[in-house]
Amino acid sequence: MTYRERYDRYLALIEPALKRSFGVERGFDFDGLLDAMDYSLTAGGKRIRPVLTLEFARLKGREAEKALPVACAVEMLHTYSLIHDDLPCMDNDDLRRGKPTNHKVFGESTAVLAGDALQAEAFGAILRCGLPVEARAKCAEILAGAAGVDGICGGQFMDLSAEGHALTSDELSSLQARKTGALLSAACMLGAAAADLGGPAAAGADQAAIDVASRYGAQLGSAFQIRDDMLDVLSTVGELGKPIGSDKRDGKTTFMSLYGEGG
Ligand code: IPE
Ligand code: IPE
Ligand code: MG
Ligand code: MG
Ligand code: MG
Repeated sequence: MTYRERYDRYLALIEPALKRSFGVERGFDFDGLLDAMDYSLTAGGKRIRPVLTLEFARLKGREAEKALPVACAVEMLHTYSLIHDDLPCMDNDDLRRGKPTNHKVFGESTAVLAGDALQAEAFGAILRCGLPVEARAKCAEILAGAAGVDGICGGQFMDLSAEGHALTSDELSSLQARKTGALLSAACMLGAAAADLGGPAAAGADQAAIDVASRYGAQLGSAFQIRDDMLDVLSTVGELGKPIGSDKRDGKTTFMSLYGEGG
């Protein structure tokens, strides 16, 4: 199977599962909130994180489908981070995944709540899924690590605090490792952890596989943010589905501002 065929096969699992998550009319007072969650979750996106989760589960010898709820959870958490990243108090952007940003359509307070709810539902999806209880607990721990102070929230805090003043290369790398690297790393680790069938005999091998996945994901995260910073300068709105030039406008130090295109 080619890379593209495998990617498409995973997308064929992920997209309908995400659509089913919050797109169903529930007929109660919170439909507006569910609409906002569903709007951003199903707006598109490359789905690289859930694809990595499914692939790491497969590499560890488990059918990819078994890790699908965990893969959807990582995309929910990522989507929450994008909704909040675009808010006026953060990057203040109007376009995401080729559509107006969540707060532009639903208003700021609903966008905040849609992000909050997507984050909580991500953990719910893991904790309710059919994997062995040890695997669920491990997955929840991994996702919490990527979301909190050593992950997205810490990285986003550093990113926003640094607006308007130059960072060193080491500072930028440590910011990036939290802001972007942690969740990409978690996506890989979650696949390995979801493939854990439980039992003490396998525990050492499972942890070794999770550690390898973590290192792979962290390096991928660096490459990913370097490319994202380049595209913010070099791409087009049509191609990217999000605004160009936001980083410079907001006075961010990025891999592009630090090294330039040929650096
Ligand atoms: C964008 O992530 C935010 C960063 C971490 C740089 P993606 O480039 O994966 O965005 P989508 O999911 O494809 O929209
Ligand atoms: C955001 O990084 C990473 C997140 C934690 C969401 P950016 O601010 O560079 O992401 P884009 O360029 O808006 O997608
Ligand atoms: Mg940002
Ligand atoms: Mg942004
Ligand atoms: Mg960016």
